[in-house]
Amino acid sequence: MKESINITIIDRQEVPHEIEVPLGVDLNLMEVGKASDLPIEGTCGGMALCASCHCYVQSEHDIFDRSDDEEDMLDQAFFVEDNSRLGCQIKMEEKMDGLIVKLAMVGD
Ligand code: FES
Repeated sequence: MKESINITIIDRQEVPHEIEVPLGVDLNLMEVGKASDLPIEGTCGGMALCASCHCYVQSEHDIFDRSDDEEDMLDQAFFVEDNSRLGCQIKMEEKMDGLIVKLAMVGD
């Protein structure tokens, strides 16, 4: 089993940031972005209550099994697309290797 994966987060200036993420420490994408000093606020602490971690999945990963809470929050978010997810609801696990996401604009 792998000990880490590599993901890419594209910031709002279209700059890609390749990040090595350790596995087995229960991180989500919002936490990884914050730890990498990217502009993800994560205001609600990962409770699917704020949408400040809204992002677009740009790789072919099949990760659109959103929870009802996530769907409800995305219903209230700005600039939602078919590939929208809340970063805090994306768990960093082995199948996420190669993931590419782009940060959504925040609508305030
Ligand atoms: Fe608030 Fe993800 S951190 S919804």
